[in-house]
Amino acid sequence: MESKEAQKLAEKLRQEINEHNYRYHVLDDPQISDAEFDDLMRRLRQLEEKFPEIVTPDSPTQRVGGQVKAGFDTVVHRVLMLSLDNAENIADLRDFTRRAKNLAAGAELEFVIELKVDGLAVSLQYERGLLVRGATRGDGNVGEDITHNLRTVKSIPLRLRRPVTVEVRGEVYMPREAFLKLNEERKRTGQPLFANPRNAAAGSLRQLDPRVAAERRLEMITYALGYSPELVFATHYEALLALKDLGLRINPYLKITKSLDEVIAYCESWRERRYDLPFDIDGLVIKINSLELQERLGTTAKSPRWAIAYKFPAEQAETRVLGITVQVGRIGTLTPIAELEPVRLAGTVVKRASLHNEDILLAKDVRVGDHVIVQKAGDIIPEVVEVVKSKRTGNEEKFSMPESCPACGSTVRRLAGEVALRCFNPSCPAQVLERIIHFASRDAMDIEGLGEATARQLLEAGLIRDAADIYSLAGRRDELLQLERQGEKSVDNLILAIEKSKQQPLWRLLYALGIRYVGARTAKILAGHFGSLDRILAADSAELEEVPEIGPKIAESIAEFAALEESRDLLARLRSAGLNFTAAEKADGREQLLRGKTFVLTGTLPNYTREEATRLIEEAGGKVTGSVSKKTDFVLAGEKAGSKLEKARNLGIPVLSEADLLKMLSAADNTPSGGE
Ligand code: IVH
Repeated sequence: MESKEAQKLAEKLRQEINEHNYRYHVLDDPQISDAEFDDLMRRLRQLEEKFPEIVTPDSPTQRVGGQVKAGFDTVVHRVLMLSLDNAENIADLRDFTRRAKNLAAGAELEFVIELKVDGLAVSLQYERGLLVRGATRGDGNVGEDITHNLRTVKSIPLRLRRPVTVEVRGEVYMPREAFLKLNEERKRTGQPLFANPRNAAAGSLRQLDPRVAAERRLEMITYALGYSPELVFATHYEALLALKDLGLRINPYLKITKSLDEVIAYCESWRERRYDLPFDIDGLVIKINSLELQERLGTTAKSPRWAIAYKFPAEQAETRVLGITVQVGRIGTLTPIAELEPVRLAGTVVKRASLHNEDILLAKDVRVGDHVIVQKAGDIIPEVVEVVKSKRTGNEEKFSMPESCPACGSTVRRLAGEVALRCFNPSCPAQVLERIIHFASRDAMDIEGLGEATARQLLEAGLIRDAADIYSLAGRRDELLQLERQGEKSVDNLILAIEKSKQQPLWRLLYALGIRYVGARTAKILAGHFGSLDRILAADSAELEEVPEIGPKIAESIAEFAALEESRDLLARLRSAGLNFTAAEKADGREQLLRGKTFVLTGTLPNYTREEATRLIEEAGGKVTGSVSKKTDFVLAGEKAGSKLEKARNLGIPVLSEADLLKMLSAADNTPSGGE
């Protein structure tokens, strides 16, 4: 293919990708499966790799730029980025409309109500349709240039659907699920947690390296026009629809009404409903729809007179501290926990709240028996905000952190520069339990059925002492059957899941080992770079730090792990259990067989979930698409297969069972290049 031809094809692919992106992010109406989308991206990437001269800056492959920034440039906003006045209650809302009505000299008011998404305000500048700059609000006058990070947000188009020059404003936020996952991973890898999705979004946008933001699932909704002389509208609502047409995502729950009672009812209706949303909101924004009226009302120094934020009362509750306990984490961190009188808060009953660490415990001066205010910050467990000192009787008991580990009794210490007390006994039972839970967790070895309760049971029964023992459970079926709540079916499923986990790629094993600071992303980078666990653990700090994104903290932590006698013993036993200690060889063997083959999955498979089957196929070089066509090579069908199976039969496409697929894969495993 010639460069010219490649360029044409690339442009076609880009248009297709942009269109599907628009359908997915803006219209919320995708027309192809994720796998099919990934396939389009892969084709474009391959084409651009072959013909580097055809790459354009707005190509969907160019979201993550190569460079790490040295610092942030400033951006002067051509139109001030204002903030909003708050209405704390219904009376404030009535005041707002009364004032607006007076200023509007009796004109009838129409309101647009939007969700107040809890994230960060940003401005996006498009020139002739191309995204040229993205900035934070800053002080409203001058913000910071964070273009490199905003480009990674998938709901921000790099190119609008029409070549207009326009500045738009909106909120970047992190969906709650992404936030919880991020914090779970940070917890596992010993990094400080983000207090809420907003801080997580802010922290992601403040990075100099765009690869970090690209890994965090951020989203944006657009709520206003900024400097935009080319676009003129009569109402705010029309402006929003035009933004949507341009390819920007707008607020999903807009309401227009002229009735103040309806405004109030709509705001109230979100008080409880907000917990059903996939992201946090901290209220609603009420805006006057007519832009001419907005102009007439004008602004104060800080905020417009034509809009107001209706804030929900903070999600806090008062309760009593019944006791303070200390939890020991996977790497031995001691966390004080307040045991509370159960109280309803933000849709759930709260019984425990984190006191984070000794410094915070002392600063807040929380005592057993105290009345306290607790709040949910979207965190994994709620936190104690403050003590209600006025309710003290003098009978409250002070608490001090123990000098020895509550789980194993060994002395606890603080490392220099760290706030947390830690237990340094690697065989501390609390740490062992947490390590096993982490090892088996979904993002690590993904052993279904081996959650906290089962891990605890296995440890208590003496069936396992560490992660490697998990792989000898298959030979102890009878003993497993003796355990409470374990029947034939659950035991066999567990054994099968353990067996399956042996196939997990190297990066998962590395992550599962629970080395401090080695999160999933770091594990992928290291596995990709070194290709084998032995080489990773044998690398000295200079070799490790040569790898992009690996710094001295990670290098030191790996060296620490590698030097431990316990680690060497654990690894030797994991190796003899047959786990993947190398990155590529096994996959290479398989790759030959399914390369270029397209699969469609339908129905329920006996042993594998859809995701697992997809992974198996993809690791062997095949691809999985959503619908059956003439291009489909195989249909993998399980129980209750539906119309896809019928279509496959009509088109004469071979239908495989799970067993057939496994046979194909094991045939590949036996090829000479396969194995360890
Ligand atoms: S309009 C001039 N609409 O709330 C008016 N703001 O407390 C500019 N926010 O800085 C804001 N959702 O970051 C507007 N639908 C929405 C919003 C929204 C969230 C944020 C925004 C603003 C802050 C003010």
